[in-house]
Amino acid sequence: MNRSWIGGAVLCLALAACGSTNAQQKDLAPTPPMGWSTWNHFHHDISDAMVRAQADAMVASGMRDAGYTYIHIDGGWEGERDASGVLHPNQNFPDMKALGDYIHSKGLKFGLYTGPGPRTCAGAPASYGHEAQDAKMFASWGVDYLKYDLCTFREVMAQQSGAKIEDAANSGSAAGYAKIMAQEPEGVVEKGNAVMEDAYEKMHQALLDTGRPIVFSMCQYGEAKVWEWGPRVGGNMWRTSGDISDTYASISANGFGEAGLAPFAGPGHWNDPDFLEVGNGKLTPDESRTNFSLWAILAAPLMAGNDLANMTPETRSILLNKEVIAVDQDALGKAGDRAYQTGPLEVWSRHLSGGDLAVGLFNRTRIPTEVTLRLSAVGWSGPAAARDLWAHRDIGEIHNEYTAMVPAHGVVLLRLSQSGK
Ligand code: GAL
Repeated sequence: MNRSWIGGAVLCLALAACGSTNAQQKDLAPTPPMGWSTWNHFHHDISDAMVRAQADAMVASGMRDAGYTYIHIDGGWEGERDASGVLHPNQNFPDMKALGDYIHSKGLKFGLYTGPGPRTCAGAPASYGHEAQDAKMFASWGVDYLKYDLCTFREVMAQQSGAKIEDAANSGSAAGYAKIMAQEPEGVVEKGNAVMEDAYEKMHQALLDTGRPIVFSMCQYGEAKVWEWGPRVGGNMWRTSGDISDTYASISANGFGEAGLAPFAGPGHWNDPDFLEVGNGKLTPDESRTNFSLWAILAAPLMAGNDLANMTPETRSILLNKEVIAVDQDALGKAGDRAYQTGPLEVWSRHLSGGDLAVGLFNRTRIPTEVTLRLSAVGWSGPAAARDLWAHRDIGEIHNEYTAMVPAHGVVLLRLSQSGK
């Protein structure tokens, strides 16, 4: 049994508030976190001034009032670690505490990024060996959300699991690590995974020890079936796949790829197919609606990834569709899943509070195609009153079946209620 687990158990006894296995702080993310992140649009080209401008735009666009809360600074804020181990921001971020205060003054929350390895993916210093020190400093800056990215920690996993040391030097990348581990005898992979689990638990404890509620966002690309153990190490959300990019192929791989993972999500701990690509320029409007609708059905965090200060009216209307946001944020906290598919035509559904059901009819082909909803196949008995959440109109009562023409790479998103309700 590792020490941090014992620490957690003692804390749980003292607080009399923790479940026996689910160590994450439920009340931090009772519904999937909503916000915005620097990464998808700005990558490492970020600064204090642009983050402030995005926070301003979050408020002015109405997004804050629609539920978007976190302003998340991803990789690219880090400078160097000094002789006393203090990690400094780089020259683009002169005063992190002041930036946190500014974000909070707008009624928003502050998110940041680091990882368990010696360095981030981009080669900046990360938290390995400095977990408690970094957590304390983040808390003193007013951080409310921490994304913790595996990256170079794979080297530590390789070393500590007993993988051949000469191989371990090449183990930082996913491919390198997989190659090394494939040659190792039985048990070494499992050992490596246990080392990874401990590393996430270590930062989880460090965050708890600060006394500041901080959403813990695990980023290790879904390796080792993180959904099975993420809650145990305090994850409020965990990436289920590799990095998203601004293409239909990528958003569909990450989104539809979550089929079967619904049972692992729930209040306090969510599957995360990555930040949204809506508004980044390459998705068609229909593909953008697919991105947003699918994330809502999956009960995924809705973290916008575009430039909020320069949005087209179309982007704004997608990110601000309150009926779709309501599906994502539904209080029941039950994630949706694929109900059935006919090749590239897929029907997904999600149970909502009050007995309602969200249903997405997805067309993954390049030509407009009819998709048929069969009520019995989504577990609905009797007629349903249906509303189209993108057209914002009631479409009347459905009996047994409903067929819609769905645009190329598009979606028709419905909300079903008991008829006559
Ligand atoms: C990747 C991560 C991305 C982003 C990037 C920053 O590993 O998956 O979401 O955080 O690092 O360098």
